[in-house]
Formats: sequence, C-alpha cells, structure tokens
Amino acid sequence: MSDLPRPRFVVLKFGGTSVATAERWQIIAAQIRARQAEGLIPVVICSALAGVSDRLQRLLPEAVAGGPEAERVEDLLDDITARHEALAEALGVPLPGAVAQGLDLLKRLALGAALAGEHTPRMEAQLMAQGELMSTHLGAAWLHQQGVDIDWLDARSCLRAVSDPDRTPTAAFLDARCHDDPDPALAERLLTSAAVITQGFIASGPGGETALLGRGGSDTSGALLAARLAPLTARLEIWTDVPGVYTANPREVPDARLLTRLEYDEAQEIATAGAKVLHPRSLGPVRRHKIPLHLRCTPRPELAGTVIADHGGDGAEVKAIALRTGVALISMDTLGMWQQVGFLADVFDSFRQHGVSVDLVSTSEANVTASIDAGQAGIDLDALLTDLGRFCSARLITGCAAISLVGRRIRAILHRLGPALAAFEEQRVHMVAQAASDLNLTLVVDEAAADASMQRLHGLLFGEGGVRPGLGPTWREIFEPAPKPPASATSAAKGPWWRHRVADLLPLAAAGSPVYVYDRATLSASAQALASLTSVDRVLYAIKANDHPEVLSHLRDSGVQGFECVSPGELGHVAAALPDLPADRTLFTPNFASRADLADGLGHGGLVTVDALHPLAKWPDLFSGREIMLRLDPGRGQGHHAHVRTAGPQSKFGIAPDDVPAALAAAAAAGARVIGLHAHAGSGIREAGSWQQTAIFLAEMAQRCPDVQILDLGGGLGVVEKPGQRPLDLAALDLALAQFKAAHPQYSLWLEPGRFLVATAGVILARVTQVKVKGDRRYIGVDAGMHTLIRPALYGAWHQIVNLSRLGAPKPWRANIVGPICETGDTLGRDRAMPVTEEGDVILIGTAGAYGRVMSSNYNRRGAPREVLI
Ligand code: LLP
Repeated sequence: MSDLPRPRFVVLKFGGTSVATAERWQIIAAQIRARQAEGLIPVVICSALAGVSDRLQRLLPEAVAGGPEAERVEDLLDDITARHEALAEALGVPLPGAVAQGLDLLKRLALGAALAGEHTPRMEAQLMAQGELMSTHLGAAWLHQQGVDIDWLDARSCLRAVSDPDRTPTAAFLDARCHDDPDPALAERLLTSAAVITQGFIASGPGGETALLGRGGSDTSGALLAARLAPLTARLEIWTDVPGVYTANPREVPDARLLTRLEYDEAQEIATAGAKVLHPRSLGPVRRHKIPLHLRCTPRPELAGTVIADHGGDGAEVKAIALRTGVALISMDTLGMWQQVGFLADVFDSFRQHGVSVDLVSTSEANVTASIDAGQAGIDLDALLTDLGRFCSARLITGCAAISLVGRRIRAILHRLGPALAAFEEQRVHMVAQAASDLNLTLVVDEAAADASMQRLHGLLFGEGGVRPGLGPTWREIFEPAPKPPASATSAAKGPWWRHRVADLLPLAAAGSPVYVYDRATLSASAQALASLTSVDRVLYAIKANDHPEVLSHLRDSGVQGFECVSPGELGHVAAALPDLPADRTLFTPNFASRADLADGLGHGGLVTVDALHPLAKWPDLFSGREIMLRLDPGRGQGHHAHVRTAGPQSKFGIAPDDVPAALAAAAAAGARVIGLHAHAGSGIREAGSWQQTAIFLAEMAQRCPDVQILDLGGGLGVVEKPGQRPLDLAALDLALAQFKAAHPQYSLWLEPGRFLVATAGVILARVTQVKVKGDRRYIGVDAGMHTLIRPALYGAWHQIVNLSRLGAPKPWRANIVGPICETGDTLGRDRAMPVTEEGDVILIGTAGAYGRVMSSNYNRRGAPREVLI
C-alpha cells in the first residue's frame, strides 16, 4: 500500500470570459458538483469579469490626467458598475454588499488620485484587486443561492509575496513573486470546507498590503495555490475559452490539432515560444510538485483538453510549431573574437546597458547573431548599434519572424525533419538556434514569408501522415458545425456543388463504381473566371489535367481559347475531340521528346515550345522556317509538392538563363524565329504574385530576343484542396499582371492552367466494400484505390472524403479509407472523421477533376474507372 496522502483538493481556475455570463456560471456550478462527486474539495479561483481589468488599469492614469479626462473616469466607472449589475441581474441575485463596497472604493481611489495628481503602485494594486474580489463575491452569492456549499476565501490570506530588497516598489506591488512551498496549515484550514471560491491575480505583500502577481497572474495564482496545498492536490484545472494547447496557433493554422498530452518541459517551451493559452510562469510550481495540469474549455466542458503531466514519455517528436513575429536580429561580425577572452561578455554587457533583452543567440568564430523582440518598450537600437561598434561591426536586420519547432530530443530527429525543412527551401533563413535543453529548434526567416512556411511546415509535420497518438481534433472539427444543406445549387458560397446533387449522384454510383463525375456548371464557372482576367490575352487549357473529350469541348464553349499538349498523343486527341479547332490554337510543350515526337508534333501545325538546346542543335532541319517558343527555367520552383515544382536546379525542365544566347543562336542557325518565351514554375500555386514574377523574369530575358511577342507564364494555378487553405486571389493575380502590362505593353500574356479549370468540378464515387478494426486503427475499404486516384500515394495529397449515403450524420469514427490494391500505399485518406459506415455506402472523394482519371491505371488488373458529365 502506498503511504502517500490521498489527494483531497482540486484547484479550478476560471478566466475572465469564463466568469462573465450566467451560462458560464452554470458550467462552473456543474464542475464544482462533479468534483465534489469525485470526493474532492474544489478550490475555485476566478479572474475579474471580462473587460473589467482593462478598464481598471485605465482608471488611475485618466483620473490623474484630470480635465476633460475626468469624464472618461466617470464612463469607466459606469461601465465597470454596469458589467457587475448586468451579471447580477442575469444570475437573478441582488448585487452583494461587498460588490457595492468595491465599486465605492474604486470611486474613492480615483478621486484620491485626481486630488493628489498622482497615483502609487500601492493604490494601483488595491484598485486592480477589486476586479477579482467583486467577481468572486458575486459568484459566491449566486452559488449559495443555488445551494452550493462554498466558502469565500480572501486569496491574500494564503498567498504571500516574498520580500526582495532589490525589487522596485512598482515590481513589489504589481509583479509580486510568491514562494510555492506547501503550507500544511492552509491545507488544514481548507479541509473543513466543502468547496472554496477565491481570487486569482492577488496576493498580500510582505507587509500585508495588497499586491498583484503581474501578467498572467490568475494562472500563476492557480499554480501557486495548487502547490501550497500539495501533496493533497489531485490536479490543477485551468479553464479558458480554448480547448487546450494546439500544435500551432489555430488562428494562424486552422488545421492545428489539439495536443491531448504534454510533458511539463514541452508545455513550458511552448508557452515561452509564444502560445497564449498558458502563462509560462504557471508551470514552475506544478512541475516542481508534480501536480497534473489540465487545460479545459469552459464553453465546451465535455472536451478533455490538454493534460500536462509527467507522462513518462521520452519519445523524440515535434509537438508544436510556434511563430513569433516582430523579431529583429543584430548580426555582429568580428575577427577579434577568435581566441579572445571576454568578447561575448563585452557585447552582452552593451545589451544590458541599453536595456535590450536577447532571445536567441548563435555564434561562430567570426560572427555572433542575437535575436531580439523589436517591440520592446523604450529601447534605442541605434544607440546600441553605435555602442556595439566599439567591439565589432554590428548590423540590424528587421522584419523577421522566429519559427520554433518544439518537442523533446529534437536533435535525435533532425534527420526526420528533412522533408519538413523543405518548407524553407525558397527562403532566406537568417539564423538557426538550438539550445542544449534539446527542446526547441528555431529558424529566423523574413516575416513576409513566415506565414506560408508555417502553414507548409505544419502540413508536413502534422498533416495526414503525421497523425499519431496524443493529437486530438482540429479547431475546425471542434467549433465548426457540419454545413447545412443549402437552399439553392447556384451559389459558390454554399459549399461544393455535389452537396446539392446528392440525389443525382447516388444513382450514378449504384450504376457502377468507382466512377468519376464532372459537373458542367463548375467547369463553366472556372473557365469564365479565367476568361474574365483582363490582363491575360490567351488562356490555354493544359489537357494533361483531364482530357475527357466532353470536358474539352465544354471548356472551349465556356471561354477557353486554346489547348496545351505535351505529346503527339495529346495533340491527336484534341484534333479528334475538337475537329474544327484551328491548328494555331494548340501549343505543343514537350519535354525530353524524341526527334520523332517533335516531328510528329510539328506536323500538327501549331506553335511548339522547345525546352532544351539539343533539338535545335541536333535536329535543326525540323525547325527551318518555323516560329517557336523557348521554355526557360525561371530558377525558382513553386508548387504543392517537390514532384510538381518544375523549375530550379533540381528540375529537368527548361533552358537555363545562361544558355539563352546559345539557344537563340541555334534557333537562328536552324532558320527558326523565336516569337515567344515560356516558363512554368510548378503546379498548385496559390500565391497571386507568382505569375507576375515569371512575367518579369521572361521580360528581362526577352530583351535579348527581338522577335518575342508572347510571354507564356505557364499554368500552376492552385485550388483549395483542404479546408482552411486560402484560395488563389484571382483579382490580385489580374492586378499584378495588369501592372506588368502597363510597363510592358508590347507583350501578349498567355496562361496555360490545367488544375484550376477542372479540379473542383470532379469527384469520385466509390462504394464501401468492408469495414475493419485492427489494433488501434479502423479501416473503411472502398472499391476505388491508388489505381483510381494516385495523388494521395504519390504526393501525400489530401482529398475530402465523405460518406454520401450518410451526409450530415454525426462522425464518431476516425478511419483510414483504403482501396483494394496490394500495397500499403493504397490509402486514400488517413485518420478521417467519418460516420458509422456500412458495406454498400457511397463514398465521395472530392476535388478529383484534375490529375485523377488521367493518372489512373490498370494496376492489379482492376480496370479503369468510368467517367460521367452531369
Ligand atoms: N504547363 C506546363 C508546362 C506544365 O508542366 C503543367 C503541369 C501545366 C501547364 C498545368 O499545370 P496546372 O495548372 O495543372 O497546375 N500530377 C500533378 C500535377 C502535375 C503538373 C504537371 N505539369 C498533381 O496531381 O498535382
């Protein structure tokens, strides 16, 4: 038998919004009763009502300012009073006398400051404390009325600040430090209560006066009280508006996942790296006393949230990514540091003297780089740089952001981070820092590019393949209700087209599955969207994305002006599908084509793009008298996956800029006229500026080519594949190209998109063959697989997967959706939320109109899927 004392207390801390409405107090009461039912004594710590602390903070400075400001003092006091009265009314209790006294004290303190023309930290602490004192008096009154047996406790009687002669009076009163040693007498006192309600944020100063615990003070109060009651504390629960700690800030990364378990050191690192959900100071006390800390969500009490504890985990993995913006770097170059004692001491002494606090440091023999928070109040960086000039040559780099990967034993998994670090391949990384604690790897990059890298990095680390135990649902899955069926099928704002065509789709699946279905209205809409770009002179459809003959003719009828083909087969297919299409409306853009292929393609009569020197130099006769385009490598690839980035040193496409003179000479020698330049950076690009960059590159190259009239900016226009992704801003693309055109009116601009025109118009309908549970995984088998859609296996692509037979049903399952092919890679979606699913259900796979059926195969002799237009 263990001789450890039985835990008796549970400390629950509720933040400002968690105590601001009658509904939230119902939740608090329910939690108190539930903890009592567990045999525990709940110790409830409350913040001031939402908005009250902010107003209290403004009160004294406004009062001191006097004059017209005095009116604002009245307004602030009225507002604070109104908030308490409104809550009392909503709770159905009279305003407690203690709250009325608190409001009166505020008036008197404001008057005192106005008369004295100044206010002291002591007054400020006394005033601020009223927020928590009033909220707890009000809450206690209502709880008593509800029959909850709860004692009101003054937090100043249990948390006492330590005296520190080195601290200023401001710090002593407004940012007090308390020790967290267990206090058996306090525990003894509270053991006689059924429940306790007390204040966050406040303590008593060394002389018994009121003191505050500084920013994040209520969380700290919770941690301190939990520690003071140790070893009798079962756990600390911090209740806020968010469900817990996420793999990234969900406001920045909508697909961020809830972390259900964290070790103390990981949580500390995440809190320090910028996560707002938990104040870093609150972890020390609970960690020291090994008290589990549960983060819970007041509006959603049914969620288990994040549990921070000693889980005994020692696996190495990245748990979260944090982004801090407003970072500046000071780069210090010196040769003097080499084998010189005291250099670092000198430079850091300068930082100290100028009051600049340093976050990260990386050093080599000749350079020291320090990162700082550029927003630190009252710092003079010019003065610091001048001062540093005494020891080294110092340079300030502003506009940076720090992206931190947090998790245990980061060094042990550096090799596994390789693919994830590809998120930075097109960026300047100013600094990489990794501390000996081995919990954090930070990269400092340009702030402008930070958001995009953060999204990619998160997708690579925590996207489909990264799902693992300890990761809970995404923010969206928790807070966004399932979409309601829309009234009309026409508006794009009302979700994807197939949601309104369920009645048409289900019989199609019954007639034979798997089947690709394309929606004519969506095809027309995307063609028209591109046709309306005023700065683009010609849109050619890259038929490799989807070459169904009816898709081709429908796109042509909807405004597409030409077709881009990459093989003689595609050219022949277009000629057969659109027999009346003029020859000059095709563009042949082959890569590593044989002489025979080129000869065949040229025979179709359309324009040809040559993307290497070899054909011009070795087969000049083919080009004699022809007008051609040259495909150039813009040097910088973009796109949704390494396989589809078609530029840069790693790619096999295009002529390098240095080889352009040789290509021009070879073309001239062959008797060909270069009338166009072409570049295609990659596929699935959603940054609107990309095509303008390509245009600028081509225009620069065109200076050497007198006959060039056409700049073909390639395709690559991305679509939203996954919820939360930002769509390509077509208006911004148009504007950027219009700016380019204004400067270069002589060129005709062409685009050759594939995906954009067809992706969202297509879905796959498949039928469920079997369901299986094996180990901790559930599988839903369907008759589509990697032979039907290769994109998930080939690129890790994410396609929406829904059970069309049970649209709108609750989704209690998490399942992998798999096909019948004999490969583990035959997985269409991993860890998807699905309804209870049965054999025969129709499963829809979304955004499958591009690179779907055209890339399907007869692997395992399973045959090719049907295609239908509706
Ligand atoms: N032009 C050229 C020269 C291309 O190489 C491509 C696509 C396009 C235009 C059309 O790109 P789009 O607008 O569709 O992004 N199978 C991959 C995509 C490969 C794209 C190959 N080249 C996927 O499923 O994502």
